[in-house]
Amino acid sequence: MEKLCAILFFCSLLISITYATPNEAITEAEKWFKNLSQAKPKVAKLHFYVQDAQGELNATVWEVARADITSISPTTFGQVRVLDNLITAKPDRNSEKLGRAQGLITSSDFEESALAMNINFVFNSGEYNGSTLCILGRNAILSKNRELPVVGGTGVFRMARGFSISNTYSYDPIQNYGVLEYSVYVSYV
Ligand SMILES: *[C@@H]1O[C@H](CO)[C@@H](O)[C@H](O)[C@H]1NC(C)=O
Ligand SMILES: *[C@@H]1O[C@H](CO)[C@@H](O)[C@H](O)[C@H]1NC(C)=O
Ligand SMILES: *[C@@H]1O[C@H](CO)[C@@H](O)[C@H](O)[C@H]1NC(C)=O
Repeated sequence: MEKLCAILFFCSLLISITYATPNEAITEAEKWFKNLSQAKPKVAKLHFYVQDAQGELNATVWEVARADITSISPTTFGQVRVLDNLITAKPDRNSEKLGRAQGLITSSDFEESALAMNINFVFNSGEYNGSTLCILGRNAILSKNRELPVVGGTGVFRMARGFSISNTYSYDPIQNYGVLEYSVYVSYV
């Protein structure tokens, strides 16, 4: 019994030490949050390309689920794919790497080729290194100037809101390889 008490005491001590250790991220967040009411909104315009590699070789887009109807649906209704696409500064896949576009795309329209998108742009170079932008919306992939909402962000882009305009810059049907051009307009604090 005494042994058990000692163990319990030691455990609770450990837990309280863990909680008492200052957490830099929390301290920074508290400071940032206190200042939020005075913060002036900032704006940013980003322009980049997304390498949409769907072909078997080195594909960065993979199907993870489909419905019974998907294979006979003209719009592949019910297909769910997960992707981790390279973001580059220029259309060339070997140009400067800016980050990744990661998330889920679901074919969710019976009439038209359109995706429900839940994508995070994860930047890993330059002034936005470590920051993310979250895109959530409908993408009619055969249309021009597809507008998608930016619903949030992290890091530099905390509290981001905005939208993006995207177009298919090029598509190679043999390799099943697309290059998508994105212009993103965001305000954040
Ligand atoms: C708080 O906000 C003001 C006004 O936007 C800014 O000048 C100042 O640098 C901010 N301070 C901190 C600690 O973020
Ligand atoms: C796949 O990746 C390898 C190694 O990075 C590269 O040599 C090859 O060209 C790539 N193939 C395609 C089709 O992108
Ligand atoms: C981005 O940030 C990470 C983590 O802070 C760092 O290790 C890396 O060198 C940075 N990359 C660039 C290109 O600045």
